[in-house]
Amino acid sequence: MSIFFDEQSKIFSLGTRNSTYQMKVDDGGFVRHLYYGANIGHCDMSYLVWNYDRGFAVNPHDQVQERTYSLSIMAQEYTSNGIGDFRINSIDAVGRDGSGCIELRYAGHSVLSSKYEIPDMPSVRGEYSDVQTLVLKLRDKALGLDVHLYYGVFEQLDVITRSVRIINRSDSDITLYKAASCCLDLPYGQWDMIHFYGRHCMERQEERVPVMHACQSFASKRGMSSHHHNPFVILCDHEATEDYGSCYGVMLMYSGNHKTEIEMDETGCVRVLSGINEDHFRWTLGSGETFCTPESILTFSEKGLTGLSHNLHRVIRENVIPAKYSKAVRPVLINNWEATYFNFDDEKILKLADKAAKLGIELFVLDDGWFGVRNSDHTGLGDWYVNTDKLPSGLKGLSEAIHKKGMKFGLWIEPEMISEDSDLYREHPDWVLKVPGRAPALGRDQLVLDMSRGEVVDYLFDRLSDIIGSSGIDYIKWDMNRPLSDVYSCVLSAERQGEVGHRYVLGVYDLMGRLTSRFPDVLFEGCAGGGGRFDAGILYYSPQIWCSDDTDPIHRLKIQRGTSYGYPVSAMGAHVSASPNHQSGRSTPLNTRGIVAMSGTFGYELDLGRLKKRECDEIRDQIRECHK
Ligand code: DGJ
Repeated sequence: MSIFFDEQSKIFSLGTRNSTYQMKVDDGGFVRHLYYGANIGHCDMSYLVWNYDRGFAVNPHDQVQERTYSLSIMAQEYTSNGIGDFRINSIDAVGRDGSGCIELRYAGHSVLSSKYEIPDMPSVRGEYSDVQTLVLKLRDKALGLDVHLYYGVFEQLDVITRSVRIINRSDSDITLYKAASCCLDLPYGQWDMIHFYGRHCMERQEERVPVMHACQSFASKRGMSSHHHNPFVILCDHEATEDYGSCYGVMLMYSGNHKTEIEMDETGCVRVLSGINEDHFRWTLGSGETFCTPESILTFSEKGLTGLSHNLHRVIRENVIPAKYSKAVRPVLINNWEATYFNFDDEKILKLADKAAKLGIELFVLDDGWFGVRNSDHTGLGDWYVNTDKLPSGLKGLSEAIHKKGMKFGLWIEPEMISEDSDLYREHPDWVLKVPGRAPALGRDQLVLDMSRGEVVDYLFDRLSDIIGSSGIDYIKWDMNRPLSDVYSCVLSAERQGEVGHRYVLGVYDLMGRLTSRFPDVLFEGCAGGGGRFDAGILYYSPQIWCSDDTDPIHRLKIQRGTSYGYPVSAMGAHVSASPNHQSGRSTPLNTRGIVAMSGTFGYELDLGRLKKRECDEIRDQIRECHK
């Protein structure tokens, strides 16, 4: 039993193999956080909680006889605005009274013998795991708001997942401005935080800094999890090393705007919040409606950063990526992008494929440029019909020819995007994100389709299903090459425009979910201008993600090392490319390039026709080595 409730003390203990998470419903009905750390069984940790009479703290009205009782210094499970906790808070909502004040008190709980699911969103899978769910029910009676905290306790995996459901029980609208997926208060300890910042071609650079007496946040408001800040943060002892010290990982399983906030208060209590970024977020919750937050994955290790990474790698491999790929050896691939860019025809492609097959490469991936009028990145996105000038025998003919060479055939797509110069845009100019009366900003000369609209998702599903189903496709590379701007959907009212960012992500998940279920044998690889959407949400559908558009092996060392704190090697797309490298101009030995790319899902991305015989022999050896 991983969830234990002591009726008398009102203490909940969530136990995994090596950790305990404990909380208590106190006499005032608030849910206090007691402990998260090394496994201490059901031992009552409430002795750790001391209340002090701090000046300039306020006390809930029914607790005024006890001046030491103040939300402003208590460690809690899910905190709210306006009633005396002046730190960063988990939820911000306004109901009929217009105050924004929310008071969440315990209203019951239940324990489920399986993992909860989150409607319309990916979450850690519960099948084949010893997992239980605790649903902790909080209520604001005056507002008519229920907040249900879900805890998925994965005993063997040493992971606790959290998600929140917010239910409007009142008879009028409640507007949500913020809804964190989890709040973690750590009342003791001296912590460093490690976060992963970056930019295009320089993703997930680790930075370790002490937590300060201030609020720090790591966020994206680009509509994607972004190259710039990964939705994953580590808190660790000042002394923690790779194999020593206490570490906490907080990873948000979400691919859109996100935010992790960390604040140390005046008593040294550190609060971590993770969830959808509240910037531009506003959700109208009608009477009786429920809002579900994305999932946060928490894990604790007292064996340093390696232990923490191992916990996350295991849960991602076993319970996040599609089960079929959990232990599957991925095919060694050749991608034509850096070999040809847009400049190819079937003859060039077949020559490259021929060479690849002879070297032992198992999958040929045809990248951007095979559809519509697409000879540069200015035109054609959205026109998902094969360009028969370049490929006269169509995708089917090409795929057959490649299959005949003994290789699998893969295809690049970028479904969420559209070029102004495309037939799809000429036909449906209203299908893009744009604000009435304004010309939308372009990125890589392209606009963004309004994925919050069911008809757009349906159209893409039909079009792409037709291509995948009729052309013998074994692999799809799903790209996304610009951030979202002008986030406005012409089918929603003005008050609901703050919902578009999240609805966009739900639309992407809907399309990914439908396509991956329709084609369970097709291997999907995520991509967003390299690793701009490298997150657990995308990994739920595609077991690997192209890690970066920078293929320089020396740059890659830092990118892949940063990525490896949270994500397994089997999730990181990594290719051997040409030397001198196209991004950095640096020359490196083929051996170096091979070793670095082998620390990911291995492949090649260069013109094989230019290789010398000894390089071809070395590639054969690399492929043999990779499969050992
Ligand atoms: C960005 C990707 O990261 C590249 O690998 C390549 O697919 C290009 N897009 C194609 O436009």
